Amino acid sequence: MIVIMGAAGATGGATLRSLAALGVPARALSRDPAALASVLDDRALARTELHRADAADPASLRAAFRGADRLFLTMANGPDQVRHELAAVEAAADCGVRHVVKVSAPAAEPGSPVAVSRGHHTIEQRLRDRGLATTVLRPYAFMQKLLLLGPAVAATGTIHGATGRARCNYVDVRDVGDAAARILTRPDPAGGSHPLTGGQAYSHPELAALLGELLGRPVRYADLDPAGLHAHLTGRAGMPDWLAAHVVEIQQLAVSRPESPDRTFEELTGRTPRTLRAFLAEHLDRFR
Ligand SMILES: NC(=O)c1ccc[n+]([C@@H]2O[C@H](COP(=O)([O-])OP(=O)(O)OC[C@H]3O[C@@H](n4cnc5c(N)ncnc54)[C@H](OP(=O)(O)O)[C@@H]3O)[C@@H](O)[C@H]2O)c1
Repeated sequence: MIVIMGAAGATGGATLRSLAALGVPARALSRDPAALASVLDDRALARTELHRADAADPASLRAAFRGADRLFLTMANGPDQVRHELAAVEAAADCGVRHVVKVSAPAAEPGSPVAVSRGHHTIEQRLRDRGLATTVLRPYAFMQKLLLLGPAVAATGTIHGATGRARCNYVDVRDVGDAAARILTRPDPAGGSHPLTGGQAYSHPELAALLGELLGRPVRYADLDPAGLHAHLTGRAGMPDWLAAHVVEIQQLAVSRPESPDRTFEELTGRTPRTLRAFLAEHLDRFR
């Protein structure tokens, strides 16, 4: 049995839908299974066993992992993420899970300039220490997060960032799900770590130009310094401080470690990744 944590979320939901498309059953976890059921389509529901689990409650994790041999491990970013994922690792090891596919991030290393990535390193280390066969996914920024720019683009025709002309490797989260589903359904639990990118990296000025072309009106990019972006995100955009700090760190990472797409997704799935142009065209109403 494959267990999907965070099945109501972005990567867990995408993985569950990709498994359903392959006809593979799964057990989907949520703190609120009724809410999860309401966001699944009939195909996914028909193949999915819904189960309540809260990472803050280790007994609920053990009950949810009983009889499972594979685990898709993801958790919302936040102050409790590392503690919650470590609890899931312990429960998985104790319950005899054989293979974990963990959603991590680029630059997950000790001393990483991105605090969330340092947390991912801690979790990856615990997976190794507990002897679990582990495949690590390192997706770059999700295209779906660009929808957060929609209201500002609609109201002011402006995108704010702090990357100058540095490019970002946006990936469609549905591709993360497709890659994860391929790995989870392999006969043998292969390990390794896989960067996941789209087919083309875009700078903020290039993103603004692409959006402007699709919308048929100019979109401008306002480049801020890191402190200015932090103030913009916590002020006008109303983000919590920790999340604004994370966004700034991620953007500075793109500046200090230039991003360029690689072919890992294609090698895993046998097809090219979804494009940013197609993604934006599909969601253009969110920017109008
Ligand atoms: N956003 C990006 O661009 C990006 C890029 C690279 C890597 N990542 C990594 O992707 C991961 C986030 O994945 P995501 O976007 O799929 O997450 P998400 O959609 O924000 O949330 C995933 C799920 O976490 C579950 N969750 C939260 N607290 C829980 C708890 N106490 N017990 C059980 N489940 C809990 C929630 O499920 P319920 O509410 O249903 O319980 C939620 O649906 C992070 O580790 C992040 O670093 C993100």
